Amino acid sequence: MYDMLRPNQLEKKSDMEVLFFLLILAARIKGLQVEGPSSALVVQLGGAVVLPCSSQNPLPLEGLRVEWSSDSGSVVNVFQQNEIRPELQSPAFSGRANFFPDQISRGNFSIMLSNITREDAGVYRCQVYTDQDSSETTVEIKDVERLVVTGAHHAIITSVGEEVILNCSVDSHIPVHQLEEVTWTKHPDILVLLFQNNQTFLESSHKQYDGRVEFFTSEIPGGNFSLRLKDVRLEDKGEFICKVHAADLSAQTTVIIQQIGLSSLQKFILELCFISFALALGLGVPVFIFLQKEGTAE
Ligand SMILES: *[C@@H]1O[C@H](CO)[C@@H](O)[C@H](O)[C@H]1NC(C)=O
Ligand SMILES: *[C@@H]1O[C@H](CO)[C@@H](O)[C@H](O)[C@H]1NC(C)=O
Ligand SMILES: *[C@@H]1O[C@H](CO)[C@@H](O)[C@H](O)[C@H]1NC(C)=O
Repeated sequence: MYDMLRPNQLEKKSDMEVLFFLLILAARIKGLQVEGPSSALVVQLGGAVVLPCSSQNPLPLEGLRVEWSSDSGSVVNVFQQNEIRPELQSPAFSGRANFFPDQISRGNFSIMLSNITREDAGVYRCQVYTDQDSSETTVEIKDVERLVVTGAHHAIITSVGEEVILNCSVDSHIPVHQLEEVTWTKHPDILVLLFQNNQTFLESSHKQYDGRVEFFTSEIPGGNFSLRLKDVRLEDKGEFICKVHAADLSAQTTVIIQQIGLSSLQKFILELCFISFALALGLGVPVFIFLQKEGTAE
């Protein structure tokens, strides 16, 4: 076959052979290589995230070992001897760091981490071993975002004319002065009090709440957006919603004013009315006795 080639062609042919040989050599030296994400991850408190780790080509499962660990040395999850080994997981990751079983044979060793906590921020290592080779990649969870809004522990019972505090506290990775908006509304759609771009807009309140509501301004930097509602009226009964917007997140809580009794003055006036009505009917003595009985029964 070679005798058909002219000398310069022969030279070219051997150059290509050398190149081909070098390529094979390079591939061998490069060997197994697993890849992670191109940048750090930002996740949400309580949410879930895929921590990527994959090799370009499928690897033989025989002799394959994949170990995910955190930078504090905790075992996140392990695949070994053709099996996922949840019993090796550190308690902190038990049940919430899972491989995609049908992906492992395709060289995809990513795991899904769910129920994310604030402690999950950090660097994770995905180490992959075959019989001949090993490789690893790291994945960083840079930030755990959170926006948690907490309200009252129980429904509120008050009386006409009283003052009540409707609790609303904000816990977030976003500093309070960077929250876009905090609104208190009365169900269904009455604007009670508005806080926007670090300012309270008393003039935006519905006239039903004009002059009766305020924040505890000095408590706002600590995330306390509780509402002081003064001079309670009967129509205040119902649901108050504290809603917070920040970045792409929003969260809310509902505080219920369950019962509004009459004020003592109103009770007194009612009793007076009742007495005068009774007197007018000439029932003075029995009513007096009745009221006295009621008084002692209390
Ligand atoms: C690995 O599998 C997961 C779950 O199916 C998927 O989200 C991810 O994109 C896969 N990664 C690669 C590199 O195929
Ligand atoms: C409001 O918050 C304060 C402080 O946390 C707490 O003592 C109070 O019981 C709360 N009120 C309601 C109605 O939950
Ligand atoms: C918010 O601040 C007010 C005033 O100091 C206080 O009465 C209330 O309990 C605080 N609420 C919470 C949830 O801390």
